[in-house]
Amino acid sequence: MTADASRDILPEPPDDLKPLSRTLSGLLRERIRQNGPMPFSEYMEAALYEPGLGYYSAGLQKLGPGGDFTTAPELGELFGACVARQIEQVTSELGQVSILEVGAGSGRLAAVLLRRLANGKAGANIQYRILERSAHLRQVQAETLASEAPQLAGQVSWLEQPPEEAWNGVIVANEVVDALPVERFCKHEGQLLQMNVMADGEAFDWLPGPPRSTLSETLRQRLGQAFEDLPEGYCSEINLTLAPWLEGLTSRLEKGCVLLIDYGYPRQDYYHPQRREGSLICHYRHRAVDAPFRWPGLQDITAFVDFTALAEAGHACGLDCAGFTSQAMFLLGAGLDDELAGLAGLPVDDQMRLAAEARQLTMPGEMGEKFKAMALTRGLDMPLRGFEALDQRHRL
Ligand SMILES: C[S@@+](CC[C@H](N)C(=O)[O-])C[C@H]1O[C@@H](n2cnc3c(N)ncnc32)[C@H](O)[C@@H]1O
Repeated sequence: MTADASRDILPEPPDDLKPLSRTLSGLLRERIRQNGPMPFSEYMEAALYEPGLGYYSAGLQKLGPGGDFTTAPELGELFGACVARQIEQVTSELGQVSILEVGAGSGRLAAVLLRRLANGKAGANIQYRILERSAHLRQVQAETLASEAPQLAGQVSWLEQPPEEAWNGVIVANEVVDALPVERFCKHEGQLLQMNVMADGEAFDWLPGPPRSTLSETLRQRLGQAFEDLPEGYCSEINLTLAPWLEGLTSRLEKGCVLLIDYGYPRQDYYHPQRREGSLICHYRHRAVDAPFRWPGLQDITAFVDFTALAEAGHACGLDCAGFTSQAMFLLGAGLDDELAGLAGLPVDDQMRLAAEARQLTMPGEMGEKFKAMALTRGLDMPLRGFEALDQRHRL
């Protein structure tokens, strides 16, 4: 996800969208009135997914130049082409091409993957399933596939829940884990506090309180003694639902790979004492804004991913962590150079467009370092090409 880093100026939303947010705010205030201050994860869940009102549930344009942020598949075909190369390596081993994409956004990655895989050994013999929470985005995905992969769109089906029958294949989730609701905590006078959400007139605000047991126990497991080294006033986020989420997704995957790409860090960087404000951030009209209580439902809310926690959650589900690296090194390992090999023979405009796309995907100041790729596998004993250029599992 890319957006300008102007952390506190939120442009005023258009008047016709404000009622959506006011309705959602009213609903949240009523829940707080009935049940008391809510954990931040509950607020984030509603702000993103409340049926008809949440950011991902309402029919607003989210991705691309006319939306709030741009993801790697929205930049062009290069990202999808490299992911397809990694998928092909795994599916050749499995002897069948079955893909489950989680959180498919506009459907652009699905369109590129289908076209690329159909050009390879699999031909048109591809099963492509999408698990998408947002009814609105499911519709957008169908439209994108009909226009960008018309011959193959019929092979795509949408699931209401993860596959219930045993299967072999590849699960792909680009920028989905960052959209899972998190809890926020702070350290005050040496003590752990959970940051809840309270209503303040028409607005919302943080209300620190004693931590619920799931937060304090999980944080103790993940940070141990390192919590003592965090400075006074330190705040950060923690995802308490990674293991159940991953278990739900992969419980029937008998053999295959889960490829997760997202912005985040290994734990020691995630909870580095100098990262004292955490990583919670909102996206609105291509600006990154530090204001989760402004206009709920109209802006995206995300938190960086603790990749160590993701690998541990995988382990708890019986998955092996088969690779972890930066997006840049993943794309290079998967075959970005090969994708760019014919560049010199292309018209100058195409050369410039592809070079700019490759830069944005791989440069450290763009998406190259901030984004990471992780592969979790079951029953696969093979080195994955995307992690051959630089495998950083030792940093987890
Ligand atoms: C930031 S967007 C990324 C979209 C797309 N993968 C891309 O790279 O452009 C997050 C996507 O994940 C979906 N999503 C979030 N949580 C989900 C869940 N638990 N199951 C399925 N989809 C989910 C959202 O509706 C949205 O499509």
